[in-house]
Amino acid sequence: MMMLPSTGGRNPLFALAISAGAVLVFIFGFLAWQSPSRIPFTHSSSSTSHFDTPLHESNSPISINEIIRLLYAPLKAAPTEPFIREPNGSHIELPPNPRYKKKLGSEVLILDLETRPLKSSEDYEKGEYDWRNINHVSGGIFNHYTYALIHGYDYKFIHATNFEDRHATWIKPSALANHIRDYKFIVFLDADAAFRFMHVPIEWMLNYWDIKPQHAITMAKDPWDPKEPQYNSDRFNRTYTNTGFMVVQNTENTMPLLKAWHECPEDVRYANCSQWKQPKFHEQSAFGEYIRYDYDNYIKELDCGQANGFPGVEISNCQGKFIRHYWFEKHLVKVDYRENMMNAITMPIQKLFAENIGHIITKTEENVIH
Ligand SMILES: *[C@@H]1O[C@H](CO)[C@@H](O)[C@H](O)[C@H]1NC(C)=O
Ligand SMILES: *[C@@H]1O[C@H](CO)[C@@H](O)[C@H](O)[C@H]1NC(C)=O
Ligand SMILES: *[C@@H]1O[C@H](CO)[C@@H](O)[C@H](O)[C@H]1NC(C)=O
Repeated sequence: MMMLPSTGGRNPLFALAISAGAVLVFIFGFLAWQSPSRIPFTHSSSSTSHFDTPLHESNSPISINEIIRLLYAPLKAAPTEPFIREPNGSHIELPPNPRYKKKLGSEVLILDLETRPLKSSEDYEKGEYDWRNINHVSGGIFNHYTYALIHGYDYKFIHATNFEDRHATWIKPSALANHIRDYKFIVFLDADAAFRFMHVPIEWMLNYWDIKPQHAITMAKDPWDPKEPQYNSDRFNRTYTNTGFMVVQNTENTMPLLKAWHECPEDVRYANCSQWKQPKFHEQSAFGEYIRYDYDNYIKELDCGQANGFPGVEISNCQGKFIRHYWFEKHLVKVDYRENMMNAITMPIQKLFAENIGHIITKTEENVIH
């Protein structure tokens, strides 16, 4: 079922495989939840979903959206969950007095922004989709999309046109500005960044980080390396923030900030900002050198380790506690997605064994041939 060729509908064997797969999933769900009256495999779609999936449009009786929601239902943390358990057994505790108590649902937009089309879509069109072969861009984007599905957030993939005079990453400020009007929050991630805990809603992180109503934009700092003290520092020796993960909040200062940032290289409000049109770190440097000094009260800077870097990074302890950002070894972004998905998929299977559902376990008292 993972290798749907686009022309699949014409093949009767394929149709059979689809139906068989759907029936299996249905039975699987039935056994796992043992509550026929509540089986949520329907087309009711009374939910607030804004998603369309190819599977849903085909003659399949179940959509991937519903499967994902069902798989994550027993795992999802609440916005005020007292703690998150790490795989090694440690607890990350939520500080007292959380601000976001309710789910924000479609008030949150998960945003992907690319100037390149997905390479994996080409493979898919040819009937050659294979998880093992997709690149990190698809891996990261699938993580973001699935995260939106799990928590009922809106999702958009913007395929933007390149600037003629600026580096591609300059597309960020205008894209954020053009969508923030319709949302309370936009959560943006680069393709090489991923949610570490897909079952933990962004509301929980907003609580954990104490994002206040005045914070128009939240980013994590880049690492500071004593061996290269200037590499990630602005001209006032302040460490840059990284635009690979941003939480943008709809406040009265958000639009002015984004506009100032987008227009920065025009050298009108900020003299010599145009020097960052092409050189590293482009819009990120412009934000660090200029924009944040005019909007400091409305910007939340997280420590690098909270939402930047990945395990193994030693400088500044940037190990991606909640958001992983793989500056190098980008293929590892797929591992985060895989580990999350395998956890969700195998938990109902574990449940079957733990509760002997369907009497799959046979106990023998003595080892003799009857
Ligand atoms: C678990 O891992 C986290 C980093 O993800 C670390 O801070 C913590 O000390 C570890 N806990 C144990 C018990 O090893
Ligand atoms: C720059 O900032 C770092 C801390 O981020 C500090 O250790 C260093 O001494 C500063 N350098 C100068 C020249 O002020
Ligand atoms: C403008 O930027 C260029 C390139 O970094 C630099 O050489 C020049 O000194 C800057 N001019 C001013 C006035 O800061």
